[in-house]
Amino acid sequence: MATASSATLADELHRARRLPAQWASALVAVPRERFIPDRMWVDEGGYDDLECVSLDRAVEPERWRAAVYSDRVIVTQFDDGATVWPQVGHRPTCSSSMPSAMLGMLGVLDVREEHRVLEIGAGTGYNAALLAQRAAQVTTVEVDPTLAEQARAALDGLSTVRVVTADGAAGRQPGAPFDRVLATASVRLGQLPYEWVAQTRPGGVIVAPVRADLTSGPLVRFTVGEDGTATGRVMPIRVGFMELRAHRTPSRWPRLRWDDPAADLTHSGDLSPRTALWVEALRWAIALAVPQCKYDVWKRTTDRTQEVTWLVDICSGSWASVTPDAAEGRYDVRQYGPRRLWNEAEAAHRWWRRSGEPTLEDWEFLITPDRQTVRPARSGKDPPDRG
Ligand SMILES: C[S@@+](CC[C@H](N)C(=O)[O-])C[C@H]1O[C@@H](n2cnc3c(N)ncnc32)[C@H](O)[C@@H]1O
Repeated sequence: MATASSATLADELHRARRLPAQWASALVAVPRERFIPDRMWVDEGGYDDLECVSLDRAVEPERWRAAVYSDRVIVTQFDDGATVWPQVGHRPTCSSSMPSAMLGMLGVLDVREEHRVLEIGAGTGYNAALLAQRAAQVTTVEVDPTLAEQARAALDGLSTVRVVTADGAAGRQPGAPFDRVLATASVRLGQLPYEWVAQTRPGGVIVAPVRADLTSGPLVRFTVGEDGTATGRVMPIRVGFMELRAHRTPSRWPRLRWDDPAADLTHSGDLSPRTALWVEALRWAIALAVPQCKYDVWKRTTDRTQEVTWLVDICSGSWASVTPDAAEGRYDVRQYGPRRLWNEAEAAHRWWRRSGEPTLEDWEFLITPDRQTVRPARSGKDPPDRG
């Protein structure tokens, strides 16, 4: 078997149809190993479920190399550096994203030779090095000084890339206007920094993963207009990115008992929790209508039918637990706190059905200096009210 390298990774992604043709030579030309620390964590869990394993290049050189040249997330920092390798931390705070996701985003960005590109989140510097293969100038901003220094060292020798240590939420006025802005950290829905729009030339493009509490996607491509507004549509690739630092939400889960007798118990038959969470178009509609609500699914026993689906608003202390009832097709719904989260989700479901079940690609985003909105373009209807 061939030794793992950028060429073997390019082959794998090409066969999986996950390598945009215009980025193939850049991928082969840039060795990912130059940007990955000798001691790192590789994700062996897959897309929705991060399961990190510590790897040390000195101890397992072949395994380290195979991980670096695989289509997997490599985490390079946990908890802003407070967790020391080989411990696996709580919150990943820097990673080299899945190459297929990065390349998908680069494909959507539509970079040309003459472009000046602003990247938010330098991280390891690998994506900036890929960008530099195709763009005239790349400015990449990193909020964490240690990471910025490492990226600067790894990118040493690339005269067209500048690494700036700063909060990327402010963009980078000295380099503006940019033709392209790429966020490699996600922004909260409704909070895309307007500076990015103001620093992009009319006709320019901003690509950013947009996040709501209930979902870590979608990837949105905005086009900046002459009037200083930007309109965006969801792209047909799915990504899950860590948040911009200022957009983080509490990630510690409260201690809860799914059958807490203090909760109100009702029954539901209209909406199954699996449909609510795994039909992506519906989950997005619910995410918009039920803000400040996270979810989780736990198994009560090894029996898959004994799942508990949780909706939790950490701020107000409201929660809902939904479990299959003995009566087929029905669910026991327990709700606690000032909000009735499952009722809100059901109301969003009814709205979504009435509105012709808009897909993610049907939604249109608008950003002006003082307002950010999202609504389904096809139906022209207002987004769901809170239930
Ligand atoms: C998924 S990583 C980026 C991966 C990177 N582009 C690469 O090729 O390795 C996200 C990065 O965004 C950085 N970040 C988070 N908030 C930021 C902010 N407000 N300004 C600049 N960088 C930020 C994090 O420190 C982290 O390094």
